[in-house]
Amino acid sequence: MADAHDLLDAGERLGTDELRALQLERLRTSLRHAYTHIPFYRDSFDKAGVRPDDCRTLDDLARFPFTVKAHLRENYPYGMFAVPRERIRRIHASSGTTGRPTVVGYTDNDLSMWSDMVARSIRAAGGRPGDTVHVAYGYGLFTGGLGAHYGAERLGCTVIPASGGMTARQVQLIQDLRPGIIMVTPSYMLTLLDEFERQGVDPRTTSLRVGIFGAEPWTEEMRREIEERFAIDAVDLYGLSEVVGPGVAMECAEAKDGLHVWEDHFYPEVVDPITGEVLPDGEEGELVFTSLTKEAMPVIRYRTRDLTRLLPGTARVFRRIEKITGRSDDMVILRGVNLFPTQIEEIVLRTPGVAPHFQLRLTREGRLDALTVRAEAQTGATPEQREAAALAIAAAVKDGVGVSVAVEIVKPESLERSVGKIRRIVDLRPR
Ligand code: DLL
Repeated sequence: MADAHDLLDAGERLGTDELRALQLERLRTSLRHAYTHIPFYRDSFDKAGVRPDDCRTLDDLARFPFTVKAHLRENYPYGMFAVPRERIRRIHASSGTTGRPTVVGYTDNDLSMWSDMVARSIRAAGGRPGDTVHVAYGYGLFTGGLGAHYGAERLGCTVIPASGGMTARQVQLIQDLRPGIIMVTPSYMLTLLDEFERQGVDPRTTSLRVGIFGAEPWTEEMRREIEERFAIDAVDLYGLSEVVGPGVAMECAEAKDGLHVWEDHFYPEVVDPITGEVLPDGEEGELVFTSLTKEAMPVIRYRTRDLTRLLPGTARVFRRIEKITGRSDDMVILRGVNLFPTQIEEIVLRTPGVAPHFQLRLTREGRLDALTVRAEAQTGATPEQREAAALAIAAAVKDGVGVSVAVEIVKPESLERSVGKIRRIVDLRPR
């Protein structure tokens, strides 16, 4: 039998000192590459009075200015590219709910590195060459589908490119083609769960053994729910298009204790979201990434808005991030109390009588914001059970989060289902 060590690629076998040396060398190259080829970085470094050669240690990175999403928008569509358009082999873009989308580009080498990182991620999740992988992340401008697809092929798997939607057919494909692995958003996995049950198929009897879930925040409660209902291992995959797409960090199946950041290609920092000061490992703040090897669109100190902390490596040399609790954009401030949808998810999922489907409605009452948690009753729940669930959720939010919310228990199957990334917050406040 293969020793666990044989399953690691060359990057994963580096020692800590070798890794830090490689990162510094790559970081210096990446800073030079961005400064030389992208006017935006040349200006921003010049304004901050730093030159790429000022980076002599990894800590010197803190002297360089941040990049934020607005910078990418301002340079739409190709202004952040460091190579001529002919060398760009593929484009992806974020949906962009308002205004211009964010466009990202990849050279041949970038696509290859990305596939390697997704292959490494699937392997960390327990996937092996020869496995069949059902990809239900959306294909298209979103990085989930194609990113997962090429990574699974790179590992030597058989790929079923199902994409999102046509849920009934997905269930049939899973039964007929017998994939061992599914890659999908956790919220769409719940939609699949409903469909299995509607078709009278016990989801615990499928061929699936591993689920690789990401693209949106999800909680330990959701992990337990999915693992139990499907009898699979559920592991967390993180990424963002500005950095590459899925495959920036991955939890390993044996530990499920946070996500190893593939630090030989993506250098992480955690900063204070307000002051921008770099925080020591272990402290919670905003995750920031600098790409170390990207050609087409290097990013320097890109602010993700995702909140987490950096933890030491365990099963692998790479540091880990704690499961992402939320994005600063998704934070609701209610009468001075900060609230993330994941906090409500934890509560709804452990409340008897309700299904794992909920939505948050934000309204304004007078000058104050108000929040209504709308959770779906479980099929067959009695009026008394629904009433008890509403009281239990309101009490748990008051206790755990420290704020009063209204709770409405709605009819089974009445809330909109996810086909990709779910939108938890419906903002009905007047603009
Ligand atoms: O969501 C890439 C991806 C696809 C990751 C498939 C994993 C699986 P974007 O559309 O650019 O890229 O959205 C990136 O989604 O900044 C986080 O806020 C959120 N996100 C992604 N993965 C996770 C995760 C893809 N595992 C944004 N946990 C990120 C929590 C996640 N949030």
